[in-house]
Amino acid sequence: MKKNYYVTTPIYYVNDQPHIGHAYTTLLADVLANYHRLLDTPTFFLTGTDEHGQKVQQAADKNGITAQEQCDQTVVRFQELWDRLEITNDDFIRTTEPRHKKIVQEVLQDLYDRDEIYRAEYEGWYCVGCERFFTEKDLVDGNCPDCGKKVEAIQEANYFFRMSKYQDWLINHIETHPEFIQPAFRANETLGFLKTKELQDLCISRPKARLAWGIELPFDHEFVTYVWFDALLNYITAIGYKSDDKKFNQWWPATQQLIGKDILTTHTVYWPTMLKAMGVELPQSVFAHGWWLTGRTKMSKSLGNVVDPMEMVDRYGVDAFRYFLVAEMTLGQDASFTEEAFIRRYNSDLANDLGNLLSRTVNMLGRYCNGTFPTLGKTAIETGPEKELWETVQQAVIDMEESINTMRLNNGIASVLTAVRKVNQYFEIKQPWTLAKEGKTEDVATTLGLAAEALRVCSALLYPVMPKQMSALRSIFGLTKPNLEHLRIFGVITAGITIPKIDPLFPRVEQPKEEKPSQPTQKKQTKKSATPQKTTEKQEGIITYDDVMNVKLCTAKIVTAAKLEGADKLLKLQVKVGDETRQIIAGIAQHYSAEEIIGKTIIIVANLKPAKIRGVESQGMLLCASTGDHLKLITVDGELPNTGALVK
Ligand code: ME8
Ligand code: MG
Repeated sequence: MKKNYYVTTPIYYVNDQPHIGHAYTTLLADVLANYHRLLDTPTFFLTGTDEHGQKVQQAADKNGITAQEQCDQTVVRFQELWDRLEITNDDFIRTTEPRHKKIVQEVLQDLYDRDEIYRAEYEGWYCVGCERFFTEKDLVDGNCPDCGKKVEAIQEANYFFRMSKYQDWLINHIETHPEFIQPAFRANETLGFLKTKELQDLCISRPKARLAWGIELPFDHEFVTYVWFDALLNYITAIGYKSDDKKFNQWWPATQQLIGKDILTTHTVYWPTMLKAMGVELPQSVFAHGWWLTGRTKMSKSLGNVVDPMEMVDRYGVDAFRYFLVAEMTLGQDASFTEEAFIRRYNSDLANDLGNLLSRTVNMLGRYCNGTFPTLGKTAIETGPEKELWETVQQAVIDMEESINTMRLNNGIASVLTAVRKVNQYFEIKQPWTLAKEGKTEDVATTLGLAAEALRVCSALLYPVMPKQMSALRSIFGLTKPNLEHLRIFGVITAGITIPKIDPLFPRVEQPKEEKPSQPTQKKQTKKSATPQKTTEKQEGIITYDDVMNVKLCTAKIVTAAKLEGADKLLKLQVKVGDETRQIIAGIAQHYSAEEIIGKTIIIVANLKPAKIRGVESQGMLLCASTGDHLKLITVDGELPNTGALVK
C-alpha cells in the first residue's frame, strides 16, 4: 500500500448555497488531511463543485441568469465557507474549467474508440433531483427509488457506457477488497443490489436540444455528457490524469473518497466500472457517512430545513463548530443537528472540561509557581495517581491513532476528552491549593506541570479538529505546531518559561431563553407550598415540617469561579443544577480561591428569589459552616449520578 494520502469530497452542486451537510464532508476530509500532515505523510486534499447538468440549469432559469452565471455566483458561497471554516484543501476543481472538460472529452473519445461507449435508442425515466436514469422496474410507486420524487419519461437516441459487462468483475472486486466500500454494511448494500439485479448499461449523454449545459461529446456535437460521468472524473482530472503523469502517479489511487450515503451507487458502481474500462486503478476506499437530520428528516436544500453553517460559526466560533460536527456524528450513522445539542456539548466538553482545565492550570501556575513553568523530574509519572493519569493520556494517543485508521474519529475525540476529565479529577485528588498552603512546593510543581503536559498532548490530538484554539492553547506553554513524536514523551514543555495570564478559551454560552429546560420539581414544590397548613400552631424558634419542605435545597456542581471585580469577599460562581446552569454570588473569597472550589459539589438554596449583588444577578444561596474567622463549604460525601438532587 502506498504511503501518500489522497482524500476527496464529493463535488457539490451549485444550484444552491452550502448547508451543514456539505460542511460536514469537507470538514471530515480536512481533519483527516490535517492528521496525515501531522504524521508527515504527503497529503493531497481535493474538493470542488459540480457545475453541469439539469439541476444547475433549472436553478439558473429560476433565477433568470445563465447557467455559467449561476455557477460563478454560487461557487463563491462554497469557497467563502471553506475559507471561513479554515479548510485546507490543496485544490478546488470546478467542472466548468478547461482542465477538466478537455480530459473528460479525451476519456470519452478513448472509450468510444474502444467500443466501451455505443449509440442506441433510450426509453426510460429520469430523476432531475438525483440526475439519474431509471428503468420502469427501478421505480417505486412510479417515483424515483432514491428520493421518492416524480420522474420524467424520456425517449430519445443516446450514448451508453457498457457498464453491464463489468457486473461480475465488480462483485468480485468488492468481495476481495473489504476496504473498498466502508463502512462494511454499505458494501453489503451495493453487493445486495449487484447480486439481485441485472446491471444495465449506463446512459452517458443528453441531447443538446433538451439540455445544452454540459460537456459536448467529442464524437457527436448534438449531445452533452451526462452529469455523473463528467463529475466523477474530477477526482482524477484535478490531479493530472492524461496531463501530468508524475502528479497523477503520486496521488492516485485515492486513499479515501468521502461521500454521503445518498451517492453510494454512483461511487461504488458507476465510478469503479468507469475506471475499469479506462484501465485505471480503483480508489482504496470509498467511505459513505450518514446524514445530518433536522428532527428525523434529511437536511436538504429541496426540503428547506437546512442549517446555515455561516450562522453557526458567527455565533459560536469556527473551532467550536468544527468540534461539534466531528465529535457528534458517529461515522457512518445519521445524526440530528439541534442548536440545543450544540450548546450542550460545547459547554460540557469545551467550556467546562477543556477550557476550565486550562484556566485552572494556568491560574495556579501563576499563583503557586510565580507564573514560571517548573522543572519536572522524569520519574514524576512512575507511580500513584501521576502514573494513572499519564496512562490515560497515552491511551488517548493510541485511541486517536486507531480512530483515524479505522474512520472512527468521534471515538478518538471522546478518548481525548476522557483524558481531560481525568486531569480535572487528578486536581481533586492532589488538591494543589492545599499542598501550596502546606508549603509542599515540589508536589505542587509536579501536579501543575503534569497537568500542563497532559494539556500539551491533548491539544496536539485535537489540533487537526480545532487548529486555531489549540494553537492558542499551545502557545501559552511555549509550544508551536504539534510534533507527533513528542506525544509519547513526558516533559517536553521548557522549564523556566513564563506562563502568561489568559482569557477563557471557550467561554460558556447560554441556551437561548425559550429552550431553557424548565424545572418540574420546582413547579411542583411551589404548588405544594401554596396550601400551607394554617392550622399548625407556631412555636417561637420552631418550624414545621412544611416550613422545611418549602426551602428547596439541591446539590450543585461548581463549574466556573472567578473573583467578582471590585469586591474582596465575593466570588462569582456558575453552578450546574441538573441541566440548568445558575450564577451565584457568594461571600467566600477570603476562604476559598476560585481554582480550588471548581468541581466541588455543594448544597444550594434553589428557590431563593434571585437578587442583585453589586449589580450582578445571583440565583440562589450556597450553604457553608462558619465559626467567625473560619468557613467551610458544605459539600456532598461522594458522587451522585447528577446534580440537582433534592436534599432531604
Ligand atoms: O450529490 N448530511 O452533490 P450535492 C450529510 N454533485 N451530508 C450531506 C447532507 C446531509 N444532510 N446533504 C449533503 C452531489 N451532504 C453531486 C456529487 S461527486 C462526483 C458529485 C453532503 O451538492 C454529502 O457528502 O447534492 C453528500 O454526498 C453531498 O453533500 C451531496 O452534495
Ligand atoms: Mg444531493
